[in-house]
Amino acid sequence: MKLVILGAGGQVGRALAERTGPAARALDRNSCDICDPASVARALSGPEVELVVNCAAYTAVDRAEGDAERAYAVNARGAEIVARTAADRGLPVIHLSTDYVYSGAGSEPHREDEPCAPVNVYGASKSAGDASVAAANPRHLLLRVSWVFGVHGANFVKTMLRLGRERDELRIVADQTGGPTAADDIAAAIIRLAESCTRPGFAAWGTYHFCGAPATNWHGFAEAIFGRARGPRPRLVAITSREYPTPAARPLNSTLDCRRIKEVFGIEQPDWRGSLTRVLTALGEAAA
Ligand SMILES: NC(=O)c1ccc[n+]([C@@H]2O[C@H](COP(=O)([O-])OP(=O)(O)OC[C@H]3O[C@@H](n4cnc5c(N)ncnc54)[C@H](OP(=O)(O)O)[C@@H]3O)[C@@H](O)[C@H]2O)c1
Repeated sequence: MKLVILGAGGQVGRALAERTGPAARALDRNSCDICDPASVARALSGPEVELVVNCAAYTAVDRAEGDAERAYAVNARGAEIVARTAADRGLPVIHLSTDYVYSGAGSEPHREDEPCAPVNVYGASKSAGDASVAAANPRHLLLRVSWVFGVHGANFVKTMLRLGRERDELRIVADQTGGPTAADDIAAAIIRLAESCTRPGFAAWGTYHFCGAPATNWHGFAEAIFGRARGPRPRLVAITSREYPTPAARPLNSTLDCRRIKEVFGIEQPDWRGSLTRVLTALGEAAA
């Protein structure tokens, strides 16, 4: 199977390209700009291509509040260009999305059929992208993930490790709940989806959730990081979102119900704590 990976310079894109190796055509932003239809058409050309995975996105959540045009250009219109170009070539698309499309109200994990009600520009641009992808290409799998961390790129784990070296005390938000998810676990799930959806007769197109278990909050995640990492262990103070104002509001409940992907594809939720140890080890940051 020949995969085309778009956004291959990001956390998930790189993890996926590492897993597939030369079996995939992995293109970063320099090699394919998803906002440029001609560039996307070139990327998807060739009879060997069977499937497109779009990992490209504008993910700067706070910056998006003042840069909605760019966020929508990539997350909504770029996503649509990829899905439409794939459809024109008879190719299915796997598109990455986010817990931030949901309101974050309540305490129950969000279900895939729940209406989107994003609380920030990033979430709204991703929600618009999800709708465009679904409309442009009936053969789509929308994979909504949350709280991504990994070896590559910027993420909460790396930020904690850096701040832990700079400060004795860190104040960490404890009222936002979610499932940390390793980029490499997402890559493994995408490969399972790719294998299934390119089999003849596959019909289970649609939206799926995938995230790590058990649910935690950022403070709990930070405790787990410093409990496993070598180096200084700062004091961790639990605070509320109100005590840590950011340009973009965050959903309080980011938990995702992941039963559907288990029922349809047999994909289990990974335990993020094991994945965290793996990532820290790969970064050379795990405690002995
Ligand atoms: N990170 C999270 O916590 C999180 C949580 C939930 C869902 N997600 C979703 O998961 C997916 C992957 O996220 P990630 O964490 O891997 O994000 P990431 O590390 O920010 O990677 C996104 C990649 O897309 C590239 N990109 C931006 N604009 C592009 C364009 N016009 N054409 C081609 N590539 C472009 C970026 O390049 P530059 O760096 O050069 O801009 C970057 O390499 C996204 O759909 C994201 O919305 C992420």
